[in-house]
Amino acid sequence: MEYSMNTIYAKMTEEEIDETQIRRAGEILRAGGLVAFPTETVYGLGGDAFNPESSKKIYAAKGRPSDNPLIVHICRIEDMDKVAASVPREARLLAEAFWPGPLTMILPKRPELPKETTGGLDTVAIRFPSNKIAKAMIDAGGGFIAAPSANRSGRPSPTLAQYCREDLDGRVDMIIDGGQVGLGLESTIIDLTDTTPVILRPGFVTWERLQEVLGDVNAGSLVPDMNDTAAPKAPGMKYRHYAPQGNLTIVDGSPEKVTAFINEKIRFHRSEGIRTGVICTEETKDSYTADLVKSAGSRADEESVARELFRILREFDDEGAGEIYAESFDSTGVGRAVMNRLLKAAGQRVVHVE
Ligand code: TXA
Ligand code: MG
Repeated sequence: MEYSMNTIYAKMTEEEIDETQIRRAGEILRAGGLVAFPTETVYGLGGDAFNPESSKKIYAAKGRPSDNPLIVHICRIEDMDKVAASVPREARLLAEAFWPGPLTMILPKRPELPKETTGGLDTVAIRFPSNKIAKAMIDAGGGFIAAPSANRSGRPSPTLAQYCREDLDGRVDMIIDGGQVGLGLESTIIDLTDTTPVILRPGFVTWERLQEVLGDVNAGSLVPDMNDTAAPKAPGMKYRHYAPQGNLTIVDGSPEKVTAFINEKIRFHRSEGIRTGVICTEETKDSYTADLVKSAGSRADEESVARELFRILREFDDEGAGEIYAESFDSTGVGRAVMNRLLKAAGQRVVHVE
């Protein structure tokens, strides 16, 4: 399909919502159009969840395979009963504890919800975001907005409206700029359709916090469907998402060894004329010799690393990094979400230096 739509741009903040533009977004959504919008996690690309044509347009605009299901965004807790065929007690407890917020629940879907929205599945992913612009837009659009992250398939999820523009200008009806998102990584996904709840994607609502509410929760694997994250892997694997154009390698080990290893690699790549990049932290940024040294924040502040990671991955593309090295992070708490995304971006290529 050729794209040459005139994308409408609107800018607002959570404190000052532009009601006129929200109404306009609502009209577009109700008419089957697409609107990119900020949430507290990343920008989403929204369409009416009950309109199969809208969901098809989302897949086309993103260049995403249509068997990859979308998340249905709601703006009232009780609306989960309008998309889920049955709502177990666990789901109600989680909604009370974490909604609105960065948690997505998988439940059996109601038959009225089109299969186009759920990628052909009998289950549905439901999320009630806390961002005020998102809530106003969902309400204006009819209350049920299917939305994946607003990036072209395979690229990092957008944390700024500028990245939605880069990926989707001319392919969607409207982009709402609400500034930099607060969290920077996508929502935690928990599957409640099995006997034991299982985390499908780690996020800000951590395994630890979910256990406090539900008791027994399966943490899921750090990277789904792969049992060996220790060995270096070739790029371009099935689970390579968010991948920068350059080769990304995670280096794990003591800080001194990691720095020495990376700097050695950088010397080699430079001799080959390759532009190099490093993802590091405030604590280590002065010890690297790469062309592009990017600190994601302090190691003590995992939330800062989460907020900056996708921006950094995109910047490496803009600045032409051919070989990129990343420090490794603790995979507990929010760090688990950071490592999950980093491992996917790296096609699980990890080097251990001890
Ligand atoms: O924070 C977020 O969740 C963002 C914002 C926009 O809300 N959305 C987001 O959507 O990250 P997306 O489409 O990029 O990721 C949704 C993930 C996909 O990996 C998809 O396969 C999974 O959720 N998913 C959706 N419905 C599912 C279902 N019924 N069963 C299992 N996985 C599902
Ligand atoms: Mg996505």
